[in-house]
Amino acid sequence: MTTSVPSSNAAALAPLLECRDISVTFRQPRTARDLLSARKPLKLHALRNVSLAVKPGEILGVVGESGCGKSTLGRTIAGLQSPDSGELRWEGLTLAAGGDRKARARNIQMVFQDPYASLNPRMTLGQMLDEVLLVHGLAANAAERRERVDELLLMVGLAPQLKDRMPHAISGGQRQRVSIARALAVEPRLLIADEPVSALDASVQAQIINLLEDLRAKLGIAILFVAHDLNVVRHISDRVTVMYLGEVLESARADALFEAPRHPYTHGLLEAIPLPDPKRRKRTPGVTGELPDPLHPPTGCSFSSRCPQAVEACKAARPALEAGAEHSEHGGLHEVRCIRPLSSTGAALAPVHLHRPS
Ligand SMILES: Nc1ncnc2c1ncn2[C@@H]1O[C@H](COP(=O)(O)OP(=O)(O)OP(=O)(O)O)[C@@H](O)[C@H]1O
Ligand SMILES: [Mg+2]
Repeated sequence: MTTSVPSSNAAALAPLLECRDISVTFRQPRTARDLLSARKPLKLHALRNVSLAVKPGEILGVVGESGCGKSTLGRTIAGLQSPDSGELRWEGLTLAAGGDRKARARNIQMVFQDPYASLNPRMTLGQMLDEVLLVHGLAANAAERRERVDELLLMVGLAPQLKDRMPHAISGGQRQRVSIARALAVEPRLLIADEPVSALDASVQAQIINLLEDLRAKLGIAILFVAHDLNVVRHISDRVTVMYLGEVLESARADALFEAPRHPYTHGLLEAIPLPDPKRRKRTPGVTGELPDPLHPPTGCSFSSRCPQAVEACKAARPALEAGAEHSEHGGLHEVRCIRPLSSTGAALAPVHLHRPS
């Protein structure tokens, strides 16, 4: 098993995984209009110049509305999707697209939103775990594999006796635990959890989040935790990255991002989190307006069409992702893609200068 890395030490470590300027596009199917006008089919920019880093033992929360590219990011990191451009690095070395998939899978594993869909309905839980150990040659013989299957089930809080059950004969929360056990079977160093709790009841959500936190503490595993909702990642994340229309708009330590968001979008998302005090709730408009069509994103800043702080300059050029002047206050970089970032009091700062697109 991997050795434990206390989260407080994670900040000082070199990144385990780095995404540098990753872009992914999906060509849209040719329409009759494309054929008639000999027009090239449109390209959807699912990821645009995404840069982020995950340190050993760190939990990075990735948050954004539906379609902002969270799953594409997870799939690209896991090697299931090739980037059009940009570089992925693992411990400082480039991860080649089309490189050794099995080797990448030993380090990086994914857990998905719907555990029912990702578990084989015709195999018992034990058989599924046994298969992973066999495929990756992780045990000397059947007896050793059996022992390891029990250990994996215990690790995710399930009784080993459950190994003879089929996926339909256990609860949704238990199924997600099995998915996590299967991912852990290869002793990965990074777990990509793509909305692992979105399909679960609120009480079960908390249990799975606690489990992931425990696993990080015990195994020192890094986790990229994807969610729609900032609230879900709030307590588990060391750092949080906020995405919008394929871009990173803000990345910071969780405490900095929640206490002093710098991007108006993050600010709006935080306002949308229901407050217990009804008087304050009235003053929280959240993010208003429609999400733009991803095939026709706004020019300049992608959030400019919904941003209460937007000025003409915001529509003129795409801002770069830059570390703000306030980054040292909470430790770690506080990056924001905005020419009018909010100050720590929530007020908009005057545009400083126009950035070159990155
Ligand atoms: N294989 C694909 N072919 C074409 N378009 C795709 C494909 N996969 C994703 N997209 C598009 O890319 C964009 C990003 O999708 P993605 O699934 O990564 O978003 P997401 O943030 O995970 O959304 P959700 O919260 O709904 O899961 C969306 O506009 C989506 O429609
Ligand atoms: Mg998704």
